[in-house]
Amino acid sequence: MCGIVGYIGYEQAGPFLLDGLQTLEYRGYDSAGICLNDGSELIVKKAKGKVGDLRKLTDDGKNTKGTVGIGHTRWATHGEPSDVNAHPHLSESGRFAVVHNGIIENYQQLKDNLTAKGIVFRSMTDTEVIAQLIEYYYKGDLIDTIIKVLEKLEGSYALGVISQDDPDEIIAVRKESPLIIGIGENENYIASDVTAILSKTRKIYRLENNEIAIIRRDGIRIIDTDKDELHKEIETVEWDVSAAEKGGYEHFMFKEIMEQPEAVAKTISPRLKNGRVVLDEIHLNAEQLRKFTKINILACGSAYHVGVVAKYIFEKMLRIPVEVDLASEFRYRDPIINDRVLTVVISQSGETADTKEAMKEAQRRGSHVISIVNVVGSAIAVESDDVIYTWAGPEIAVATTKAYSTQLAVIYLMALYFADMLGTIVPDEYKALIGELESLPERITKILENKERIQYLASKFFNSRDVFFIGRNIDYALSLEGSLKLKEISYIHSEAYAAGELKHGTISLIEKGTPVIALATHEELIGKIVSNIEEVKTRGADVIVIACDTHPELANIGQAIFIPKSCDMLLPSLAVIPLQLFAYYVSSLKGCDIDKPRNLAKSVTVE
Ligand code: G6P
Repeated sequence: MCGIVGYIGYEQAGPFLLDGLQTLEYRGYDSAGICLNDGSELIVKKAKGKVGDLRKLTDDGKNTKGTVGIGHTRWATHGEPSDVNAHPHLSESGRFAVVHNGIIENYQQLKDNLTAKGIVFRSMTDTEVIAQLIEYYYKGDLIDTIIKVLEKLEGSYALGVISQDDPDEIIAVRKESPLIIGIGENENYIASDVTAILSKTRKIYRLENNEIAIIRRDGIRIIDTDKDELHKEIETVEWDVSAAEKGGYEHFMFKEIMEQPEAVAKTISPRLKNGRVVLDEIHLNAEQLRKFTKINILACGSAYHVGVVAKYIFEKMLRIPVEVDLASEFRYRDPIINDRVLTVVISQSGETADTKEAMKEAQRRGSHVISIVNVVGSAIAVESDDVIYTWAGPEIAVATTKAYSTQLAVIYLMALYFADMLGTIVPDEYKALIGELESLPERITKILENKERIQYLASKFFNSRDVFFIGRNIDYALSLEGSLKLKEISYIHSEAYAAGELKHGTISLIEKGTPVIALATHEELIGKIVSNIEEVKTRGADVIVIACDTHPELANIGQAIFIPKSCDMLLPSLAVIPLQLFAYYVSSLKGCDIDKPRNLAKSVTVE
């Protein structure tokens, strides 16, 4: 969603701001803008459309002068995507400029009050109210003014503010929306996301709620809303620049698909020691674990699909009932949850608003929360009781691949770790599963080596109107992910169905030539899924079947993609690879904007 970048130094700010905004494009946006202090006034350039359009408007940032500036990519919430609604927003006289991520929930009331006082608004946004309030309350001290304005705001915000009168300062504030301060040599930066400043520095301060940063060329002060000085630790970001670059690949999504063996290995290996799973991150002993009567999983999007896989695995291995909830639904259904329920929250970004709020709801009701998060220091990671990081590195493509795979890897680790503590697994099985886990990256590599087969199948189906994904048990959970991957980036309508449920309605949609992708990896249910495949074939479906290489006969009932045989628990990590590649190749053949599908955002920070 929206992205923020800011610069203060001795170079011209424009080119850096544009490069930073370009890096933030992956988050999803519909307009972009910059504002610079040219020494006498604030100059704003902003436009609906891509950062490329803004580049043209500003001659790559060269025709807008100034060594201090803020920039923004906007994903519209209040007010349609348009030039005027794009950020930065100026106060009425043009003295103050603001960029904002988040939502001001009481903006209408604040706007009505200011309008009644004769202040004229230009845009439909909630953000403009902040710029106008700053000007309204300003009596000569910008920090005092901002503290006063913050008292009026309800909702979430990461803010970058500059003033016409002070070309030597950027003020940054956050509440419930991420913001970091980058530390350079005689120059400093702000950003909503580290990737925007990685080319300049890896040293950062991570702002926390209600902290205010006063950023000058030669130093940074951080204070709280009582103006007390805060002494924060400098953090060094481990990600390097190349991790956030395409590195010769045409798309980030393809690069990230290919990075999966490495990402999964990085997530698993440090947690396997002497043939055992070690999860020091979890602060629960066997006695505490035994007291849980239910596991509650909360997530959105693909992370939710990992949760559906986890339900099958946890229930089978731990014999504890598991409920998986879409975070947005959980919050408002008065869930039955207390200190006897263990909550597992899954989120790549660690900032998804629904997931974060659902987590807080679970905590309020006494539940212990373990989060599985990729972005270090993100809100969910920090606010959960325990966090297990996935070491996927930065994921740029909107459609998640390597984050999904590393989340699955953590689920396996947790299942083994807990099963061992609870005594629900026999030593031989434990040992065998550890062995399989160690060889998982290698097996994923093997499937990736066979990608041309999937490319060929994609070339046969890329013109389809509808595609169905079917499976049973964990294969059903994977069908959900396969279907989401395809529809989100190729815009082909697709649906995932539990194979046994098809005949209760959906089968009426199958007609001659309808592609059906059937997952048939689950040994115990091969016979059942084969019957379901026959049912759709009889009605004209064109079937692709994904199966283990121990069942070559399945090539007789559909166009087969074989994956290496593995234990049931690990099969999702293998079967998901052809699904990701299929979605990628179909979208590529259709000429879609694969890394930035329309209307979608990588990090969804609004409800
Ligand atoms: C967005 C992304 C999805 C992602 C979901 C949850 O919708 O487009 O790819 O699965 O958010 O994101 P999270 O960061 O919480 O995993």
